[in-house]
Amino acid sequence: MENSATRSSEKETRVALLGFGTVGSAVAHLLQTQQFDGVRLTRIYNRGIQRKQGSTRAEGLHGDIIWTDNIEDVLASDADVVIETIGGLDPMGEWLARALLAGKHVVTANKQLIAYRGAGLSQLAREHGVSLVYNAAVAGGVPVIPAVLHGLQGDRVRQIAGILNGTCNFILSQMEAGADYHDVLAKAQAAGYAEADPTADVDGYDARAKLCILARTAMQIGLDPDAVPVQTIRNVRLVDFHYARDLNCTIRQVARIESDGETVRARVGPTLVPHTSPFAWSHGTQNLVMTTGEFGGDVVFSGHGAGGNPTAVAVVSDLLAVAHGSASVSLPVQNRAVSREFVAPHYLRFVVQDKPGIVSAIAGALAQVGANIDSIVQRPGYPKDALPFVVTTEPCSTATIQQAVDTIAKMPTMLEEPLLLQILREPQES
Ligand code: HSE
Repeated sequence: MENSATRSSEKETRVALLGFGTVGSAVAHLLQTQQFDGVRLTRIYNRGIQRKQGSTRAEGLHGDIIWTDNIEDVLASDADVVIETIGGLDPMGEWLARALLAGKHVVTANKQLIAYRGAGLSQLAREHGVSLVYNAAVAGGVPVIPAVLHGLQGDRVRQIAGILNGTCNFILSQMEAGADYHDVLAKAQAAGYAEADPTADVDGYDARAKLCILARTAMQIGLDPDAVPVQTIRNVRLVDFHYARDLNCTIRQVARIESDGETVRARVGPTLVPHTSPFAWSHGTQNLVMTTGEFGGDVVFSGHGAGGNPTAVAVVSDLLAVAHGSASVSLPVQNRAVSREFVAPHYLRFVVQDKPGIVSAIAGALAQVGANIDSIVQRPGYPKDALPFVVTTEPCSTATIQQAVDTIAKMPTMLEEPLLLQILREPQES
C-alpha cells in the first residue's frame, strides 16, 4: 500500500512531535540544527503549551512551528510522521493507534508501550502500510535494535545480557566510587536521565521493558513483561561494593535472557560482574548490550543510554529511515513463558548481631537446599553489633538459594533482610 511518506518522497516529510520535555526538545533542536533535506518539523504537542513555548528550551526554534495542546489537531493534521517522546501506556497507546490508522508513520521512544502493546501496534502499522519504529526505546543513543535487526538475523541469538538503564548505571557506578545512593539518584533526576517516577528505573521495570523489546527483535521471542522477575537496586549498600571488590567484582543492574531452544529464562536485577567483564567497564549513563549467537558468538554494543541528545539521535535516525522508506523489518515472533530458574553463583550479604554459631547456622541452611559454599568473606573493623559479612556459593538455581535465604532471614541474629545477588560468570565460562 502506498503511504504518506512515499507519496511525499519528492516533497517534504512533515513531522509532528508529541512531547517537549528532555527528549522532545532535544529532537526539535537536532532537527533545527541539522537541517535534514526534505524533513520539516511542523507541529509540537504538549500539555501547558504556553509554558513550554516560553521556556528557554524553545528558544531558537523556527517560528512557523504550530504549537498545540490538543491531540486532535495533530491527528487531523497533514503530518506524515508522528514522533512520540511522552511515554506511558495510556492514553498514548490509543493516540498512536489512531495516528497509524490515519496513515501516519510513528517513531516512538516509549519502551513500556512497545513492550506491552508493540505486537498489536506493529500489526496495525502493517495493515495500514505505514512504519512503527522504536529504536530509541532501547539503550537511548546506542543503535542496538537496528544492529540486531539488520546485522544479526543470520545468527540464532541464544543470550542477551545488558545494562539497559542509564540511571541505575549512573547510581551504581557512582556508589562504586563511594557516593550515597540518594544523592546520586537526585543528581540523575536533575539531569533528566531518570524516568518521571524513578521507581521504574531503580526497581527494574524500565530495563525489563527494554529487555522484552530486545527479546522480540533479536530472538523473535515474545514475553509478557510482568512474567519477568525484577529485583530492586535500593537494597545495595556501599558495603556491598567493598565486598564485591574483595571478590574482584563490582555491581551493575543487569537484564538477562537466555534460551536453549526449550526454556526461556529472564530476569533484571543488581548483579555482581567480574572486573574483567565489559559490564564492569560501563560507567555513568552508559548502556551496554552483549548478544551471544550460536554461530557468531559474542557481540557487544555500548554508548550513552539516557539523556536528551543521545536519545534524540536515535529518534531522528528513525525519522530519517522512515523518510527514506527504509524503516520496516518484520519478523515472526513466538510468545514464550518465562522460567526463573537461572543457574548462577550467588552472593549473600548478611548483617548480624555477632555471636558464635552464625556461620554454622547459615552453612546448615545452605546445605539443606544442596547449595555449596564457595567463600566466606568478613572484613575486619565493622561493629560487632551490626556486622556485615558475605557468603558466596557455587552455581545453583536462584530459586533454590532463595529458599535458604528465607530460612536464614528468620534467624534472630539477622538485623536486616539478607541481600541475595547473582554473580555473572566470566564470559568464557558461560
Ligand atoms: N530512565 C531511562 C534510563 C531513560 O535511565 O535509562 C532512557 O530510557
